[in-house]
Amino acid sequence: MFNIQQTKAGARERRVAGPETHPSTGKKLAHPSPRGPLIFADTATIKDIEPLYRAGIISGVTTNPSLVKKAGAKSWADAESIMKELIKLVAPNPVLLELLDLTDEAMIKQAQEFAGWGDNVVIKVPVGGYQAVDPSYDPFTGLKVIHALWERDITCCATLVFNSTQALWAANAGACFVAPFIGRLADYAYSNDHVERAAGNSLYWLEDHRNAKGDQCVSNTEYVACGGARKDIGPRLIQEISAIFTNYDIRTQILAASFRHFVQLSECLLAGADVLTVPANLLQQVADHPLTTAGMATFFEDSKAFEK
Ligand code: G3P
Repeated sequence: MFNIQQTKAGARERRVAGPETHPSTGKKLAHPSPRGPLIFADTATIKDIEPLYRAGIISGVTTNPSLVKKAGAKSWADAESIMKELIKLVAPNPVLLELLDLTDEAMIKQAQEFAGWGDNVVIKVPVGGYQAVDPSYDPFTGLKVIHALWERDITCCATLVFNSTQALWAANAGACFVAPFIGRLADYAYSNDHVERAAGNSLYWLEDHRNAKGDQCVSNTEYVACGGARKDIGPRLIQEISAIFTNYDIRTQILAASFRHFVQLSECLLAGADVLTVPANLLQQVADHPLTTAGMATFFEDSKAFEK
């Protein structure tokens, strides 16, 4: 079970103090606390981002191909224009753009193109999964690209992270951010946990359907596989990555992604996330609370007694 008490105080030391001004433009950065967690909007839809940005709720944006499509892109030209508009809207705060190419040379070239669009561009690189697209692809493509971008001083984020070893591999390769998808983990756990397995362990006991014997393979540490409520599988992963990064003073930022519920936001902050990227509808919900609404209604009513 996710336990707040286990949160390591050392994580604060690991967290890099953010710059107060943008290194190139000198413009004041939005976040008031140098070591504070950042909140990004996980959407490419400008009309959703604008009010959140103006209200100081978010100080960055993350996108992926699905979100750019959802924002209305029907062609490369549309996608490019949406991405460029985002870069301009939130500059000098970061906008994370995901690479679409799938071979290392093409990805590095595309990353250089995206990075040329603005100083605030961060390149998102899927950490793995390349063989799902084509079995002949190199499984290390993502890590190779992350490393090549690090060598070229291009800031990047390893995305589609589902265990702490992927996060460590990406950090070692040179990723400035790693993005664990905590909601997709919970979705997976809800649909795959069975009574014969310890609760919450489905992620770590993946059935290998390609193996004729039906063997299972362990894909993470026993530490994480020790049980707990299914719904907190994401925060527990954040806690594990945070503990590992803290132990070895790894400064890569943990960018928790794929949120389903606002409780997960606080849990991930308590677990040691450095950045939360949150869908716009969830950010809007969190800005209010039924008791805030009720309180406002009463204050407004009572203020009528001494109206100017
Ligand atoms: O930033 C990653 C995020 O967009 C994935 O979210 O809701 O598709 O699991 P979701």
